[in-house]
Amino acid sequence: MRTQVAIVGGGPAGLLLSHLLHRQGIDSVVLESRGRAYVEQRQRAGMLEQGTTDVLRDSGVGERLDREGLVHHGLELRFAGAGHRIPLTELTGRTVTVYAQTEIVKDLVARRLADGGDVRFEAEVLGIDPAAPSVTYRHEGAVHTLGCDYVAGCDGFHGVGRAAVPGVRTFSRDYPFAWLGVLADVAPSTEELIYAHHERGFALHSLRSPQVSRLYLQVAPDEDLNAWPDERVWTELAARFATSDGWQLREGPITDKAITPMRSFVAEPMRHDRLFLAGDAAHIVPPTGAKGLNLAVSDVTVLANALAERYAGGSETLLDAYSATCLARVWRAEHFSYWMTTLLHADPAADDFARRLQRSHLEYVASSRAAATSLAENYVGLPLPDAL
Ligand code: FAD
Ligand code: DHB
Repeated sequence: MRTQVAIVGGGPAGLLLSHLLHRQGIDSVVLESRGRAYVEQRQRAGMLEQGTTDVLRDSGVGERLDREGLVHHGLELRFAGAGHRIPLTELTGRTVTVYAQTEIVKDLVARRLADGGDVRFEAEVLGIDPAAPSVTYRHEGAVHTLGCDYVAGCDGFHGVGRAAVPGVRTFSRDYPFAWLGVLADVAPSTEELIYAHHERGFALHSLRSPQVSRLYLQVAPDEDLNAWPDERVWTELAARFATSDGWQLREGPITDKAITPMRSFVAEPMRHDRLFLAGDAAHIVPPTGAKGLNLAVSDVTVLANALAERYAGGSETLLDAYSATCLARVWRAEHFSYWMTTLLHADPAADDFARRLQRSHLEYVASSRAAATSLAENYVGLPLPDAL
């Protein structure tokens, strides 16, 4: 069997690439090792840059996003018992939108299937040949080969795509903490996201809907989830969000609880021969800056445009520029995510001097329009190329 583009991984990167290619009349097959229910329920990102929502809307998968997404114009930095608003839209003219990754994945799967797309779940890719392009995969107990013109490695950090790039160079940073994330059936206690720095550690108050809150706590990297019964989660969140004016955190039933490791990681180049890496397969950021999903969307938008140019007129100029084009944006997001992470987390190894510097940095960002604009410009994201 053959297709034009074999897509390894049915996360947001792989599904959106398949959708964007379809709009250009380019065939693809998406091979996803997990089942449909699993990829549609996996709790992850929630904050979308304006460039990301534009791509989804302009390519015709923004209907539910426009109905249910929550458009935000600012965020709060909270430390030393007080909140400081960063007016994102006033500073940049752009907005961000809360709409869960689970919902984007559901929208994309439904749309690909409605358009007659070929998305194969429980199809695990075992090997990739970037030169005589093809992938081998296991589906329903049998091993198959799929021939193609190009392979897109959209298979996340633990996938097989990156290993098929010979001589790949990697850059990474581990952090001495992780995030414990919970989803709770309770109305958010805030309209805008709260990024809180506390000596006990970082906490983030996000949301999913007017009835559902999404909250995160900095914990140790080797933290045992069993050590965090629901009461302890709420007590710790309340302590880290506490203000001197008596702000109250609403509590409710927790419906999902998981620990996520934090790391920064970049693989260069993002291409070898006919294989192109996109999304978490090529780079990871700590979640503090909300960049991971947005980077996955920008990578596949660049890739879809480059493949469209190649199939329409034969030119490989955009394909040849793919890795460098993406990496410029990736490294900006890497720096911002690292910066937000070190600004807001409590480093267990920090001495008193480092803690004073961190406090001064927070006060500067909260009080200087120039510093707040720098945060805002990165948070709302650089402009994306228009999806063709
Ligand atoms: P993935 O979503 O990892 O998808 C890869 C897919 O490939 C998976 O479905 C996997 O099953 C499949 N696969 C793997 N190996 C194979 C194989 N051999 N064969 C076939 N299929 C395979 N980002 C943001 O932008 N904003 C946020 O607010 C944000 N918050 C986050 C909060 C948390 C707690 C976490 C964990 C992440 C967050 N992120 C955020 C990051 C974001 O979730 C990821 O960057 C995003 O999922 C990347 O999409 P992807 O398609 O590249 O990879
Ligand atoms: C969410 C996650 C983030 O990492 C972030 O910075 C903002 C929001 C979320 O899951 O809603």
